Amino acid sequence: MKFTTISEEHIYFFSELIGDRCSINSNDLIKYSHDETEDLSILPSVVLKPESTEEVSKIMRYCHSNKICVTPSGARTGLSGGAIPLFGGVALSLEKMGKIISIDENNLQVTTEPGVITQVLQEAVKEKGLFYPPDPASKGSCFIGGNVSENSGGPKAVKYGVTSDYVLNLEVVLPRGEIIWTGANVLKNATGYNLTQLMVGSEGTLGIITKIVLRLIPHPTTDLLLLVPFFSAEKACEAVSSIFKEGITPSGLEFMERDALIWTQDFLKDNSIDIADNHQAHLLIEVDGFNSEVLMEECTKIMTVLETYETGEILFAESQAQKDTLWKLRRSVGEAVKANSVYKEEDTVVPRYQLPQLLSHVKRIGEEFGFKSICYGHAGDGNLHINILKGELTNDQWDNEISKAIRLLFEEVVKLGGTLSGEHGIGLVQKQYMDIAFDSMTLQLMKSIKHLFDEKGILNPGKIFD
Ligand code: LAC
Ligand code: ZN
Repeated sequence: MKFTTISEEHIYFFSELIGDRCSINSNDLIKYSHDETEDLSILPSVVLKPESTEEVSKIMRYCHSNKICVTPSGARTGLSGGAIPLFGGVALSLEKMGKIISIDENNLQVTTEPGVITQVLQEAVKEKGLFYPPDPASKGSCFIGGNVSENSGGPKAVKYGVTSDYVLNLEVVLPRGEIIWTGANVLKNATGYNLTQLMVGSEGTLGIITKIVLRLIPHPTTDLLLLVPFFSAEKACEAVSSIFKEGITPSGLEFMERDALIWTQDFLKDNSIDIADNHQAHLLIEVDGFNSEVLMEECTKIMTVLETYETGEILFAESQAQKDTLWKLRRSVGEAVKANSVYKEEDTVVPRYQLPQLLSHVKRIGEEFGFKSICYGHAGDGNLHINILKGELTNDQWDNEISKAIRLLFEEVVKLGGTLSGEHGIGLVQKQYMDIAFDSMTLQLMKSIKHLFDEKGILNPGKIFD
């Protein structure tokens, strides 16, 4: 792919347009060269921080006519390399567009700019008794715009759905600089193609999202949280679908392999959970709602289901502090693994009943290729995060053999009715496997859509597919 190299003349144009929000400072270039994906990093030539839709539009118009490539950048917490400026060029940060524009309490909606931290948005609407459920592990630092671009999930997705279930309407700057709204601020919409949902999860390859309208729901008032140790990791996975079959939809149903919890406790220097030698995995189960008695009944039903499995002593969180500790442990697993080891993270998802089979495929393939893995994730969604550790593998094995193992694994995932990514996106690191999930006709359709939006291919090039 041939893009124009950024020259002094280009920098002059950007500086005239946005002043010192145009930066070629080397610290900035380094900061915007990576997200949280492995240890990958590629420098942009310039970082631009527009603060309005009009500025984004002018930047895109200029980049389009000069064939300069642009990589949109949120809070850079992504796990598939979506924000890495693969071909250099412009890193376009949306961090200066960080205002919540309005909270509509009559219609239960919020309109926001993309650079608002997800948790900040959640807390702002909670003050009005309202709930925006999607809660990726990075909710304290990620941006809502990035969540829309990646169609983020998180633990609450099992009951409340993912980002796409809340996006009603988007303002988007197209690669040529035109500004459009994709839909309407309504709960039902049968008007034409659904461009809103096309944009959600498009990983910054079709347009720059500059305003977001989200639907909200009433905030639940109470919840209960259980931590359940299992003597077998596969049995823990089996228990997951049994809970749903009993008619219960937990608001969180998370799985952590033994090492996930041990590594995270070490990482956080928190030994509050006693992990016995025979505890091979844990389920963290939350129910929420508006009536404590109903929740107690749901927990009783869950315990009855769990009695049919061999479990250790169940921990019932007794205080908000204990709930916070347990959730912090769960949310920190990814960070703990990253701090400890060279790794690759897969974001596999299968129909939930197939979860035990997925786990056994992971372990079998690990034995075949000589790698250890740490698995955890959103078991209630069938979404298993598989962290493949480099461990004793040689650099050659790591660089050349592991992709074969991942390919085998994804093939098994697809045979189970699943797919490559549940919530982290394809980005840079998973695109080589897209042929496993889609036939060539379907892939060609996707590429044609990309071409229709961005015929010069300047927007986030080299992501999702080449
Ligand atoms: C989590 C992130 C990695 O679930 O998606 O912790
Ligand atoms: Zn996750």
